[in-house]
Amino acid sequence: LTQERYPVRRLPFSTVSEQDLAAFERIVPGRVTTDPGELEAHNVDWLRTVRGCSKVLLRPRTSEEVSRVLRHCHERNLAVNPQGGNTGMVGGSVPVFDEIILSTALMNQVISFDDVSGTLVCQAGCVLEQLSRHVEERGFVMPLDLGAKGSCHIGGNVATNAGGLRFLRYGSLHGTVLGLEVVLADGTVLNCLTSLRKDNTGYDLKQLFIGSEGTLGVITAVSILCPPKPKAVSVAFLGCPSFAEVLRTFCTSKGMLGEILSAFEFMDAECMQLVGRHLHLARPVQESPFYVLIETSGSHAGHDAEKLGSFLEHALGSGLVTDGTLATDQRRVKMLWALRERITEALSLDGYVYKYDLSLPVERLYDLVTSLRARLGPRAKHVVGYGHLGDGNLHLNVTAEAFSEPLLAALEPQVYEWTAAQRGSVSAEHGVGFKKRDALGYSKPPTALRLMCQLKALLDPKGILNPYKTLPTRA
Ligand code: FAD
Ligand code: MLT
Ligand code: ZN
Repeated sequence: LTQERYPVRRLPFSTVSEQDLAAFERIVPGRVTTDPGELEAHNVDWLRTVRGCSKVLLRPRTSEEVSRVLRHCHERNLAVNPQGGNTGMVGGSVPVFDEIILSTALMNQVISFDDVSGTLVCQAGCVLEQLSRHVEERGFVMPLDLGAKGSCHIGGNVATNAGGLRFLRYGSLHGTVLGLEVVLADGTVLNCLTSLRKDNTGYDLKQLFIGSEGTLGVITAVSILCPPKPKAVSVAFLGCPSFAEVLRTFCTSKGMLGEILSAFEFMDAECMQLVGRHLHLARPVQESPFYVLIETSGSHAGHDAEKLGSFLEHALGSGLVTDGTLATDQRRVKMLWALRERITEALSLDGYVYKYDLSLPVERLYDLVTSLRARLGPRAKHVVGYGHLGDGNLHLNVTAEAFSEPLLAALEPQVYEWTAAQRGSVSAEHGVGFKKRDALGYSKPPTALRLMCQLKALLDPKGILNPYKTLPTRA
């Protein structure tokens, strides 16, 4: 249990009574789960590193039902844990103690799609991959994509402000989300579900909820801008002799590919070994210390092929890259992407994973991986680095046979101190959740932390929404 591993005490919330269960049964009839077997998967996170002991799971279908549930919980001082696809990486999606799990799984309806503007309006529980399919059939794409697409919900994506694989091209959800409907802690429905591109009527309140990780309100519907589907997509998978060449390849690709560059991802040799060993994915190029995945997306296949061709010729000719392969058909494009997207899965099959998600100056992105690998030696099974290099985002992961307090002490706070010294961020895209809340001070000044706590107190005075998460223990 989480509370046995981490120093955290249950706050004085009420516990769910028979009367509460009866009230929930009236609000969401037939969708109140108390069966421990069914609850098991909702109490433990994707990484299997934190576990709560909730005894109740509620599955509303409408915002009205969410509102009635929260009104009841607010009155009764019952804590609530909003949950989407439960793919979060920071322990935010599962209860710490016995919080009620409020799942968006049945809130999975598309409300509308405007095929002139590309605006999609849908309920928060729509699965990202299903939304992708929906808009692609209409000639558009979702502005975000991530390895968890088959399970994560759009509401969860917005709640974590997920970055992912298309960030380089389409930017943050702070730009692509046009509107939100949110149910506040006391059950009030805040309808900011507009589809306007421009709206400067005072404070942009929806921004508060993007990345708020279920601590300020429950997102019930999302309006999001989808760009037109690119006509030509190509992926080059390349091997680089050192990190210096990875960086030079990045600069060269920006210069030579310009507007068609849509992703620049990297992974090290140990990542490739792990996807080979645990997922049996074959390495598509000669063995190298580093690999990069470059994606181009454009509107004219011939034009893109010409640009990509001369870029690859230059990269190979000048020794930036020692080997490479190019894919333009959908099947091979997917196969090359899988090597990068499935690292998370391979790592989780390797053992206990200590996961860090850092924003750093791109020139220093790999330094920490090299120094940690040397410092930890055989104490770690693997120390790997991969991530969204084009966005300055390193995923530093350390695996071991099992969780160990001494190994954790060898990693923290050093990883955070080093990141702070580079003026980086201790959470680039995964959020804070339960696991990173005491690291916030490395990336935000005390004044900002205090203001965060004040906002929390304003919107959720009883603190019932996702307690023990996102905000620092002390501010
Ligand atoms: P959950 O995990 O269920 O919840 C996440 C947080 O949001 C919790 O704090 C929860 O309380 C809150 N929440 C969920 N739904 C709501 C709601 N409707 N209203 C209010 N709060 C809510 N992240 C990236 O940024 N980039 C990546 O590339 C990426 N790749 C991933 C790949 C894999 C294989 C996996 C397993 C995870 C990856 N993630 C990535 C982590 C990422 O945060 C999640 O995958 C996703 O955004 C979470 O969505 P979810 O529906 O699973 O939310
Ligand atoms: C990724 O980029 O693969 C995700 O953020 C998940 C992870 O960091 O493992
Ligand atoms: Zn990522």
